[in-house]
Amino acid sequence: MIKDQLITNEYALYNADCMDVLNTLEKDSIDLSVYSPPFCGLYQYSSLANDFSNCANEKEFLDQYEFLIKEMSRITKPGRITAVHCTDIINTSTYHLWDFSRNNFVTREIRI
Ligand SMILES: C[S@@+](CC[C@H](N)C(=O)[O-])C[C@H]1O[C@@H](n2cnc3c(N)ncnc32)[C@H](O)[C@@H]1O
Repeated sequence: MIKDQLITNEYALYNADCMDVLNTLEKDSIDLSVYSPPFCGLYQYSSLANDFSNCANEKEFLDQYEFLIKEMSRITKPGRITAVHCTDIINTSTYHLWDFSRNNFVTREIRI
């Protein structure tokens, strides 16, 4: 459900669960996305079931996140940018860092 939105010729703002909005956006329709995902196990941002920070474990988070980045890839124009604020995350069971490459996530580091 979209709680509020503002759509102009230059930009669109939505106050909603991102999962409800992303699949309504057209393929190759955005130039830039910037976001800081709530990796599960770090902080809890709300008690809402669809808040990524409430995923029960790493696998559940990565399954949801995979859906999100596939949608981001679909709606982003070819050659344009999605910027993700992230950090090394420790798996508290294995004490190893999360391995995003295992889920076939491809990253490209851009140094500014
Ligand atoms: C790491 S915080 C970043 C917040 C924001 N960038 C800021 O600086 O205030 C992650 C945010 O994503 C929100 N979030 C979690 N799941 C979401 C979802 N499915 N759709 C939209 N936002 C979500 C969390 O509630 C939290 O506010």
